[in-house]
Amino acid sequence: PWNGGILSTAGNLMLQGNARGELVIYSADEGERLWSFDAQTGIVAPPVTYRINGEQYIAIVAGWGGSLALVGGEALKGGISPNRSRLLVFKLGSDVALPPAVDEPLVIDPPPMTASADSVERGKALYLGYCVFCHGDGAVSGGPIPDLRAMTAETHEQFLAIVLGGLHWDKGMVGFGNQLGTDDAEDLRAFLIERAHHSLSQEQAPSED
Ligand code: HEC
Repeated sequence: PWNGGILSTAGNLMLQGNARGELVIYSADEGERLWSFDAQTGIVAPPVTYRINGEQYIAIVAGWGGSLALVGGEALKGGISPNRSRLLVFKLGSDVALPPAVDEPLVIDPPPMTASADSVERGKALYLGYCVFCHGDGAVSGGPIPDLRAMTAETHEQFLAIVLGGLHWDKGMVGFGNQLGTDDAEDLRAFLIERAHHSLSQEQAPSED
């Protein structure tokens, strides 16, 4: 599952990226794996091929996104692939690897859980109506968009300005001030804090999974 677009060539090759972060070349007739490259990020886009001065190139826009990555949430555990947007171009006979990838750990350090269960419940319903499509099921991000369990203290302070006021509008996070009120936003924040504590408690007791 979770494979990217396909390119097939007249030379019996089929190329495809996947969610595990590989670009793979298969034989088109048998599907045999002939070669793979560690792209360090999930690939959704299809490869393209072209020729310049008789030399053939393969280019692929590597990067993890799409509806599955956005909504997938918890279900992507294990298959999760960080997003590192880059254009990779190969030519025949080249033998290179990328420099080692640097992973930024997800720091989940929420404020104390003070909201009522009712507030969390209302926040959950709002989250499912407005936020899940980008920030992921259960507030677990698939990678490309910030994981709201890992909001910093500063982000918590700016929560209303971001969610209602559109502070990060230019980066793709619109403001919902014409749809939601301050109480709604606080309920949403309560739900997100609850999810953060939930994740931390799971980390501490993995055997209960
Ligand atoms: C259409 C996609 C989309 C939807 C829907 C969406 N967001 Fe976002 N959100 C984004 C993107 C993209 C960013 C990153 C913006 C940036 O880089 O500053 C973001 C960032 C945020 C941030 C800042 C996170 C941080 O750690 O910096 C908060 C808070 C946030 N969103 C809350 C919400 C809430 C609450 C909802 C639902 C009411 C919501 N978002 C719905 C796309 C979306």
